[in-house]
Amino acid sequence: MVNTRIGKLIERLEANSLDGLIVACPYNRRYLSGFSGSNGLLLISSSVRILATDFRYYEQAEAEAGDYTLFKTNNGIDEWFGSLISELKPDKLGFESKHVSFATFTSMKKAIKKAGLKTQLVSTKGMVEALRSLKDKAEIECINKAVSISDEVINHLVELAEPGMTEIGLAWEIEKYMRQAGSQTFSFEVICASGPNSALPHAKPSNRVIRVGEPVVIDLGARIDGYTSDITRTICFGKPDSYFKKLYNIVYSAQQAAINGIVAGMSASDADSLARNIIEREGYGQNFGHGLGHGIGLDVHESPTLNPSSLERLEAGMVFTVEPGIYVPDWGGIRIEDDALLLSDRLEVLTSANKLEEI
Ligand code: CO
Ligand code: CO
Repeated sequence: MVNTRIGKLIERLEANSLDGLIVACPYNRRYLSGFSGSNGLLLISSSVRILATDFRYYEQAEAEAGDYTLFKTNNGIDEWFGSLISELKPDKLGFESKHVSFATFTSMKKAIKKAGLKTQLVSTKGMVEALRSLKDKAEIECINKAVSISDEVINHLVELAEPGMTEIGLAWEIEKYMRQAGSQTFSFEVICASGPNSALPHAKPSNRVIRVGEPVVIDLGARIDGYTSDITRTICFGKPDSYFKKLYNIVYSAQQAAINGIVAGMSASDADSLARNIIEREGYGQNFGHGLGHGIGLDVHESPTLNPSSLERLEAGMVFTVEPGIYVPDWGGIRIEDDALLLSDRLEVLTSANKLEEI
């Protein structure tokens, strides 16, 4: 698996006239090597696969990244990078500009100079991320496992949630449930936002007591072998009023329009419009301030990005969220989020949890 991924990366490097790439993004590192430790750099070229990490992760690296030659970084980047570069003598070495710190960049430059080389460090963006956007079978399996845990917790909300609870209290019950159901960690902190707080798409749970009749936005994700799920349901203790119902139905129809209309080959901005047009037609365009969705995988927000200004095209093999929302300041918000796999002939929704509104 790792070999196929590296093969594809090397094709991309060659197409960009690069002799190698320094990989610093933790998700890219794991994707290309299998190494899941939280510190380390990869150097990949057609002739070498290097993983440099410090002593805390060395044994783990040996076990997880068998295809790689390991370097211990205890004495700083100058030493290992210097000796490596003297051997490789690359003309152009790419680095991940969003993930290599300025300090690391400066050390690399120094080491190149010290070795008497003219190696040019070339800034790159999104090279591995583009590969990661298309999922293979094993990745889809992991995502499906994470999805089934998040489905399970949503389907048990009726038992976990009761009026009088605080947002933090409910978030804690959800987290406990997910752990017990086998989630290895969380994709992100559980969002549990009630009443006016739910008007903030990424609200943090507070000590606010959840009241009957108001919207409660619950957004959570489980993680299995690094792969994430991401699901949102908006619920209401007791009977939702007609305003809640009206907004809920608009968001739901917008989501269904996107799910039924998205096809492989479509631009990500057109996909966004499928849902946005409906929300705009109902007069709530200004209240849907974020994009329709985002890719999920090793990272919870990855390529593709579905929003009005996205330049990406949706391809079969991508897994992304479909999550329209309407947010009304001082009242609250409604968001419904599901995860879907794009197939060559249709969009397959992976999440299957109840679309409950009333509990
Ligand atoms: Co979410
Ligand atoms: Co999301």
